[in-house]
Amino acid sequence: MISPRRVTLIRGDGIGPEITDAVVRIFDAASVPVEWEEAHAGLACFERHGTPLPQETLDSILRTGVALKGPTTTPIGEGFKSVNVTIRKALDLFANVRPAKSLPGVVTRFGNVDLIVVRENIEDTYGSIEHRQTPDVAQTLRIITRQGSLLVHRYAFELARRLGRRRVTCVHKANIHKHSDGLFLECFRQVAKDYPDIVADDLIVDNTCMQLVIRPETFDVLVLPNLFGDIVSDLCAGLVGGLGVAPGGNIGRHHAVFEAVHGSAPDIAGKGIANPTALLLSALQMLDHIGLGSYGRRIEQALYATLKANIRTRDLGGDATTRQFTDAIIARLPDVSEQGEVAIPTTLDIPPPPPPTPSAERWTLVGADVFVEWNAIEQLPPMPPRVGPLELTMMSNRGTKVYPPPVPPITMVNWYRCRYIAQQPISSEAIHALLAEVERLGIRWMQVELLTREGDIPMYSKAQGEA
Ligand code: NAI
Ligand code: MG
Repeated sequence: MISPRRVTLIRGDGIGPEITDAVVRIFDAASVPVEWEEAHAGLACFERHGTPLPQETLDSILRTGVALKGPTTTPIGEGFKSVNVTIRKALDLFANVRPAKSLPGVVTRFGNVDLIVVRENIEDTYGSIEHRQTPDVAQTLRIITRQGSLLVHRYAFELARRLGRRRVTCVHKANIHKHSDGLFLECFRQVAKDYPDIVADDLIVDNTCMQLVIRPETFDVLVLPNLFGDIVSDLCAGLVGGLGVAPGGNIGRHHAVFEAVHGSAPDIAGKGIANPTALLLSALQMLDHIGLGSYGRRIEQALYATLKANIRTRDLGGDATTRQFTDAIIARLPDVSEQGEVAIPTTLDIPPPPPPTPSAERWTLVGADVFVEWNAIEQLPPMPPRVGPLELTMMSNRGTKVYPPPVPPITMVNWYRCRYIAQQPISSEAIHALLAEVERLGIRWMQVELLTREGDIPMYSKAQGEA
């Protein structure tokens, strides 16, 4: 007999209390050795305690290391920030893990999908580093880091090994985003070397989407940067039946929070008809995470038997209530004698990310991209051709070269990137002088990116058409 593992339980809003109750009852019936520690979060919590995420709730997860969370309502517009996003950032839950597995009795176009999407969960465009540079031009910075990439890749391989998976595929767009996705892919290849037992390959994201809807059964574990992962994981949820059956987990080095992909479903809350499957599958994923996977397999058998017996909730075309569906699962739990070995709880050992790689000794400053607003679109901005050691080598509009001439017949907007390069390494004073000259000419600049080289290799990409 192993001593029970404490787990934080957040019931949440809307259908949250109904579906968490179902999971708690099934765990009780299956004698899963977990001890729930109840904590509050969400809209009801906000109305009662004045905060959607009390410190005690975070403290509970910090203490237990793992939480099962029902959906929480985020008010649109006024109110508070999404509890999920706050938890994710507060606990540094760097990986979002979403299994997509075909279920018996759930009718979809495919019968044999069994894959896991591992999505980087913190960076990419989700840092919300956004600026409006002119009234017509907005930007979102897409930040990919070595540390964040190494962590998520390491987790993907560790998970694959633990679950007996054979292949991990890195999904990216490194053919276009040579630096950001290029770094993500470089880190993937580095980590893959430590896992010779697992096939490591990579695939461009658009091709991945096509392959997923043609032959999803060929995929095993996928690892993606945040935005691609967001989109592809919903696609994968659709492959196996959608929201009612889509589980997920947010994983950090020391903490993890498991929850269904769906929300609080206010339209059916309190009616007793919600489908608890997605949360139950999230809870089984949690059992794998804390080393109690054999209990999960037993519950999984009962869930499959229930679905095969055509006992389904309304969203899956049946007429069972949440309670009837839950009772049917409990009634089908296999005898304990049929249960295999009880796993010994282990934790995935994700090493801390490496220390920063300083740029100072290795990189030299050779120029700057100056971003300027210029509204007279019939002519190019009158940028100074040379300021000190810096020479104007290129201007682009929406990434396409417009200087040196010819100007291609493209739609021009009031936002130019003006590239200044020096023949020799320079100091930042040359760039201050350049900006002063641009201002003296009455040209508004909004942003400057320094251009550096490591040896002969530029640490920036070329514009479309740039020599
Ligand atoms: P939703 O996922 O709650 O509902 C979309 C549709 O799916 C509804 O028709 C709903 O009845 C149905 N549905 C969802 N889960 C179901 C289940 N288990 N059984 C049967 N039917 C189910 O998405 P919606 O309406 O956009 O969001 C409602 C609230 O949930 C919002 O406040 C949103 O911010 C929040 N939300 C919370 C999430 C979380 O806590 N992880 C995730 C997504 C949304
Ligand atoms: Mg999403």
